[in-house]
Amino acid sequence: MTATVSVIRRLAELRAQTAAWRAAGERLGLVPTMGALHEGHLSLVRLARRTCRRVVVSIFVNPTQFAPNEDFARYPRDEAGDLAKLAGVACDLVWAPEVAQMYPDGFATRIVPAGAAEGLEGDFRPHFFAGVATVCCKLFNQVEPDVAVFGEKDYQQLCVVRQMVRDLDLPLAIVGAPTVREADGLAMSSRNAYLTPEQRRAAPAMHRALASVAARVAAGEAPAHAARDVRAELVRAGFDPIDYVEVRDAETLRPVSDASRPLRVLAAAWLGKTRLIDNVAV
Ligand code: PAJ
Repeated sequence: MTATVSVIRRLAELRAQTAAWRAAGERLGLVPTMGALHEGHLSLVRLARRTCRRVVVSIFVNPTQFAPNEDFARYPRDEAGDLAKLAGVACDLVWAPEVAQMYPDGFATRIVPAGAAEGLEGDFRPHFFAGVATVCCKLFNQVEPDVAVFGEKDYQQLCVVRQMVRDLDLPLAIVGAPTVREADGLAMSSRNAYLTPEQRRAAPAMHRALASVAARVAAGEAPAHAARDVRAELVRAGFDPIDYVEVRDAETLRPVSDASRPLRVLAAAWLGKTRLIDNVAV
């Protein structure tokens, strides 16, 4: 038997389906994605499934989180492939609205997060977190899940979403899921498809560099010192430019003032025209 996943593109239909599940007392999980699904995304579906009878995956390449010079037009899209993968992981429904459904004529409201959204990605992609926060808030209101699962791969995004849910009293729980990596340590990402074979061979240096900062900081070295050394390592591996390598408070993402608190090492850097981000716990 081949499982198939139903795809809904109209909000009224989505609400009818989720209302029926809610009336039956079924817990609902949401996994927001932009498609081009890989094992990292599928791990989030499996995690949602552990506590939720129903799991909705949204697939929406959100134009408002891309700047005009970024890769919105060429972002990988493969709905047929995505549906085939989701059929294997007990996803109940795919919510795949058109851009005009999400942002109809006259749409004019944005959520602009500060706090966890400041610095790091916020410095290099100033439009990004307002786009993410606004679309996630809409997705939460459309699907009304009990739980939404986000990957630690995009650690700052996870912190920003948690902060928004807390600040705006949104009635759902946010669950973070560990980063799924290739055998050589490279964090899985839809954007890895952009890498040339040579860049793909260089890419695992990012995870090695982060792991080395984490080990040095855990051993007592000053975070700024360890991060500076490792920038040079990334340059030698072919990354250029290095947007940032930083050690931050794992909860607030503020610069480290108390090294006894949980810390996180985060980095973003370019291999050719592809920007990679990754992070690890100290
Ligand atoms: P996207 O990049 O498709 O990622 C969707 C979710 O998958 C995010 O929560 C992300 O952190 C998680 N993810 C990606 N790669 C992962 C990996 N290797 N291991 C574990 N989880 C991984 O992030 C977005 O889409 C968008 O910004 C979105 C939240 C959908 C809003 O548009």
